[in-house]
Amino acid sequence: MNITFIGTGYVGLVSGVMMSYFGHNVTCLDTNHTKISQLKSGRLPIYEPGLENYLNSKIKFIDQYQDIPTATDAVFITVGTPSLPSGEADLSYIFGAIDNLIECLKTDSNILTVIKSTVPPGTCKKIEDYLAKKGSRLKVAANPEFLREGKAIEDFLHPDRIVIGIDNPQDLRVLENIYQPLTKKNIPLVVTDSVTAEMIKYASNSFLAAKVAFINEMADLCEVVNADIEKLAYGIGLDHRIGKDFLKAGPGFGGSCFPKDILALSTLTKKYKIDSLVLDSVIQANKIRTDNMVDKISRAVGGNLKGKNITILGLAFKAGTDDVRSSPAIKIIELLQAQKAHITTYDPIAKTDLAEVKIAASANEACDNADALVVVTEWPEFKNLDFEKIYKMMKNKIIIDLRNMLDSHTLTAMGFKYYGVGIPSC
Ligand code: UGA
Repeated sequence: MNITFIGTGYVGLVSGVMMSYFGHNVTCLDTNHTKISQLKSGRLPIYEPGLENYLNSKIKFIDQYQDIPTATDAVFITVGTPSLPSGEADLSYIFGAIDNLIECLKTDSNILTVIKSTVPPGTCKKIEDYLAKKGSRLKVAANPEFLREGKAIEDFLHPDRIVIGIDNPQDLRVLENIYQPLTKKNIPLVVTDSVTAEMIKYASNSFLAAKVAFINEMADLCEVVNADIEKLAYGIGLDHRIGKDFLKAGPGFGGSCFPKDILALSTLTKKYKIDSLVLDSVIQANKIRTDNMVDKISRAVGGNLKGKNITILGLAFKAGTDDVRSSPAIKIIELLQAQKAHITTYDPIAKTDLAEVKIAASANEACDNADALVVVTEWPEFKNLDFEKIYKMMKNKIIIDLRNMLDSHTLTAMGFKYYGVGIPSC
């Protein structure tokens, strides 16, 4: 099949590369010329572990709409849908892409336009109406993505399901052919109308965000009753109705998806005058999570952060990505700075341009003269640091592990005061 992707962000680029790996002829379009020239020279503008191994000659990169091959079977739209100040999803990039398609494809073109970006329920229908008004014969389908940053290749090759929202059953064949390499491996194909498909994506992300907010609240409770959140998560996760995933307590959920999508869904409920008690509580719980983490750090250093040297390990919103959008680490740094703490940070991949933050070249260097070491992102390399050396370098031997990833017993035996999240030693 001949497929075009519009937008080479995380979703578009990973999906494009992997579709070409499946043998489809793929063209990826992005109006950002720098990105496209980087891609043409074989360099990836994003960090996604292993993606470079899947680049092959069946994928082409272009920066002009008029260069979209006329023989295209489907155009996937994978542009951003950031939050507007109102909380609603900003659909201007989607409609911008649609306008460009209308302009550059012949008016009699009936190519299938597949909306892969996360969009509010009803968006595909809106696009259909818009196309009809413009006299275009382009057809529309919803095909939300479920790729996690950092694990996108695994998720692409072994998805739990493929969701297709289509209002005209005849349009299904194109997508069935495109996804045949996966469906022949018995990956379930959920075919529904476009509004339901759009809702499935929002509901999935919101439900997962609720699981994280729930386990974080249980962690707070574990700390005061002296219970162990890790064992609690294991104990409840074995119940298949609950499931073991997304029960890792931590500094709160971040990234470019959960915070934006749950906010958009909650905003939608307001528009339709529906109660959204669950969604709003999850948003609020996650909002105060970083404040609580900063209180925890403050308590650990004696109740006053002013003038304290705090080392923050990790900037990315989770391990395996360079993405710092809505990262708990960034929020925690800002809150610590507001209380006049001095921040030194290290992340193996992610970067920040936050003012007055010292960026260290290594985790060890970041710990020099620190009053406390705070692990915010769960990069595996932080497990294997030379803590004997770090012990000697730190002014005060305090570790606050917001991901429960370090060996608390060993660190305590070395003489560190160790604080985890929701575990009895706190
Ligand atoms: C999420 C979804 O998992 C994907 O299925 C979806 O396609 C994607 O959003 C999207 O909408 O594009 P992603 O944002 O990459 O993927 O990150 P997740 O791995 O889901 O983690 C989200 C946040 O929850 C992170 O801040 C992570 O640290 C946090 N989290 C996750 C926890 O604190 N505990 C957990 O047990 C799991």
